[in-house]
Amino acid sequence: MKILAIESSCDEFSISIIEEDKILCNIISSQIKDHQVYGGVVPELAARLHLQNMHIVLQSALKETETTIESIDYVAYTEKPGLIGSLIVGKTVAEAIALYIDKPLLPLHHIEGHIFGASINHKFVYPVLALVVSGGHTQIELVHSPNEFEIIGTTQDDAIGECYDKVARVLGMGYPGGPLIDKLAQTGNSSKYLLPIAKNDNSFDFSYSGLKTAAINLIHNAEQKHEKLELKDFCATFQFAATSILKIKLEKAVQKFKPLTLTVAGGVSANSSIRKLIMEIGNTYNLNTIIPDLEYCTDNAAMIAKLAREKLINQNH
Ligand code: KG4
Ligand code: ZN
Repeated sequence: MKILAIESSCDEFSISIIEEDKILCNIISSQIKDHQVYGGVVPELAARLHLQNMHIVLQSALKETETTIESIDYVAYTEKPGLIGSLIVGKTVAEAIALYIDKPLLPLHHIEGHIFGASINHKFVYPVLALVVSGGHTQIELVHSPNEFEIIGTTQDDAIGECYDKVARVLGMGYPGGPLIDKLAQTGNSSKYLLPIAKNDNSFDFSYSGLKTAAINLIHNAEQKHEKLELKDFCATFQFAATSILKIKLEKAVQKFKPLTLTVAGGVSANSSIRKLIMEIGNTYNLNTIIPDLEYCTDNAAMIAKLAREKLINQNH
């Protein structure tokens, strides 16, 4: 079985081809540099660049894998959620290919894709508890099978990646600032400043807008008082506040739902503190713990291809 998958929900246009369980290619055309000058992703520009790049990515995927379009059995694509213009380009390309080769089309969910990105090169034992942390999402999901996902908790306002990026922007770090805050945080003192740990309650939901505002206020107050903000210590304090709530809630979720696998997905899963806390919880509760390969953390089509395959071979579960 050969599946061609397309991911275009934000500022990456990506095509992957999977044959049985082997990812044959994962071509990603990233627009990060085009959006950097604006300090964030400009939706209109993202869709226009997808239109420019899509055929180059498709040609590379077919050429690199020596695949003919006629040999594809299924065409999968990210249906939602994402930027509407970006999604439409991916959907149109997928539909055109499926129509041309007269093969089934599989519209898939971006977040479910992120979770299955973690199962590339690793084995899921169900149920799987997955933390999804990206620029647009902060969720805990319980995965019973590739066709049954249960959202346990979600953010009530901003996503964690958005919070990192907005704070980084105020610090003048450029876009996306998440990785830079993480880097600086690693050598800083996390108790130098005071920032709130939000929504420390009995739910599995999150809130990041309060932390974002508090962090930005702290930066502005220091500026107004002409006090020097120790960047490393500020980043360490921010990172501690942003990630310790994940540990608290994930641990409670493990105790309640008793999963066999623990994993993390989405662009922010590249974060060093998050990777560490997943390993710590996994070891404490003796779980099959999966930290995804970095290539499959940020938006990519291989995760959509893998999700499509798992859904198809587990259709009756
Ligand atoms: O999943 P992704 O590629 O795109 C979305 O679907 O949002 O995630 C991108 C997000 C950005 O907010 C970026 O700042 C964040 O992931 N990110 C990080 C790190 N690496 C990427 N945030 C914190 N620490 C990191 N090491
Ligand atoms: Zn994503």
